[in-house]
Amino acid sequence: MKIYIEDSYDKISEKAALIVAGRITVNPRSVLGLATGSTPIGMYKKLIDMYKRSIIDFSQITTFNLDEYYKLSRENRGSYYYYMMETFFNHINIPKENIHIPNGMADDIEKECREYEEKIDKAGGIDIQILGIGTNGHIGFNEPAENLNIRTGLIDLTENTIRDNSRFFEKKEEMPTKALSMGIVSIMKAKKIILLASGENKAEAIKNMTNGYINTNHPASILQAHRDCILIIDRDAAKLII
Ligand code: PGA
Repeated sequence: MKIYIEDSYDKISEKAALIVAGRITVNPRSVLGLATGSTPIGMYKKLIDMYKRSIIDFSQITTFNLDEYYKLSRENRGSYYYYMMETFFNHINIPKENIHIPNGMADDIEKECREYEEKIDKAGGIDIQILGIGTNGHIGFNEPAENLNIRTGLIDLTENTIRDNSRFFEKKEEMPTKALSMGIVSIMKAKKIILLASGENKAEAIKNMTNGYINTNHPASILQAHRDCILIIDRDAAKLII
């Protein structure tokens, strides 16, 4: 695992955006795995800027998002569908049919999860997977637990995640307690993984994912077994490893 420690959030965002842009330039038909949350917002802004300056083109790109809340409508401002449209997709030229986000409103959730995996495989797998990390070490919504989902599935969110993420909801009680998430193997199958982290509140999680052990209570620690995983973090997030 390569670790880049940068001076600022802006530098993290820039480095990640440059790697993604490089990949898109080499292969305009790349498949991107995308994440939500506060951390990748700067990277999305830089990619939008590069698109507007005609440096990159998204017309043949396919995307798969990591996760979505269960039984939260797309129109809800807290949904990841809403986030992705507002933060990224509405500002670039990606065809709507190339965008994939798990549908938490599906009647048959098992079928939705199975088909999501099939769509990733059919697209040829994910070339670059962007990840954030939860303060509890989750990736996607794979929460610390004895057993982790291999494939996309329905997950019970932990108290920690409900507390961390309720900031995205106007009314805290709207925050769902379950979500659909790509599984650990769905993530590990990506050809390249970039994990971004910023801020002191991520320092413990970063320490626990780089300590040389794989522990399902720190789901991100599995990334140590990936061939091409890059951590791009700021000094605050790196505080306990430098
Ligand atoms: P954040 O979330 O970027 O909002 O900190 C990261 C995550 O929970 O994976």
